[in-house]
Amino acid sequence: MPVSVLVEAPDLTVVGANTAVPVGGGALVPYANLDYAASAPCLEAVRFALEEALPTYSSVHRGAGYTSQLTTARYEHARHVVRSFVGARQDDAVVFTRNTTDATNLLAHCLPEDTTVVVFETEHHATLLPWERAVRLPAPASPGAAIRAVAEALAAVEGPKLLCVTAASNVTGELWPIASLAHIAHEHGARIFVDAAQHVPHRPLNLTALDLDYVAFSGHKLYAPFGSGALIGRPDWLSQARPYLAGGGASQAVDDEGTRWSADPEQRHEAGTPNVLGVIALAAACDALAGVGWSSLIEQEERLLTRLRAGLATLPGVRELSLWGPDHPRLGIVSFVVDGVSARDVAERLSTEYGIGVRDGQFCAHPLVNHLLEGSGGGCVDSTARAVRASIGVGTTEEHIDRLIDALRSF
Ligand code: ALA
Repeated sequence: MPVSVLVEAPDLTVVGANTAVPVGGGALVPYANLDYAASAPCLEAVRFALEEALPTYSSVHRGAGYTSQLTTARYEHARHVVRSFVGARQDDAVVFTRNTTDATNLLAHCLPEDTTVVVFETEHHATLLPWERAVRLPAPASPGAAIRAVAEALAAVEGPKLLCVTAASNVTGELWPIASLAHIAHEHGARIFVDAAQHVPHRPLNLTALDLDYVAFSGHKLYAPFGSGALIGRPDWLSQARPYLAGGGASQAVDDEGTRWSADPEQRHEAGTPNVLGVIALAAACDALAGVGWSSLIEQEERLLTRLRAGLATLPGVRELSLWGPDHPRLGIVSFVVDGVSARDVAERLSTEYGIGVRDGQFCAHPLVNHLLEGSGGGCVDSTARAVRASIGVGTTEEHIDRLIDALRSF
């Protein structure tokens, strides 16, 4: 059974790389995990960090004992690691959350009164749905059209405004022009929030260099298996909003007169005992990715992605979905449809006959998938229209890609 690692670095070996799964007739085959965009497997480096932390695992921010002090130090070190991983400014807040959805809801909760959020319908639901007052823009025909649409929409808005946009689509893997969008947002007096959930497992992101105001991402897509994520960005709106959760840690003093909440944006929005192991896992994953170096990761991913897309292009009944055409830069995420076979059947057969894991459906991005299916020659679609998504990561091998293409050829 092949051990699948993307680069020759033990830190990026995934736990369970040799997992065997049953296929028809009861045989076992090595699992071909092509579903990294949903949740990525745990890195060995993350497992190591967790094993190191578990024996002294204790409460944070509230114990005088040695293990409590040690765990607090690890938790706060993780904040430092995450800050550095996204190139945040020194005064940015790094608030730990459960995931990107939670981070986006936290920001939505903290927006100044009457803030208008400009967002494309192409966002996935985590960043499409939390906003109370949103201007929803249709799918743009090109990156240039996206920039023009944002400029026009922001110019028409009075009062506080926020642009929300993904760095990379969870459906097509296509990269969005976030640097240009940040520039346009600031020109119009708006702030920009970038959903980096799909981006950061594949590419570096520097919040300061890109001049972004907020970034969010999830641990479970970044090879850290526990329910952790982060919202990173400007502290002022976060410090002024009512705590996301009311409770211990967020409060400085409570008496008959009322409650005085912590002014520190991180304490203010991390009430209760936090997910310490999740945060340690998240930081270990950030360290491992940054430590290996992005150029080798990107080079290997590009090679696998090219192999995947070239293979799909040889299959007459298979159509890849794309917002901005086949040449637009993208990450290792590809969605497609197979003529005459439902996406659910494709995904089920890939699993039960070939031991391949993909996701099928609308990927929590219903308006985008409907738009892409309409534009892909499939005619009108209904709300049950679905696609298949193959996504790659550090444990993906050429054999996984070839097995997928061979399997689809037999359909
Ligand atoms: N963003 C998650 C996915 O694409 C829901 O699978």
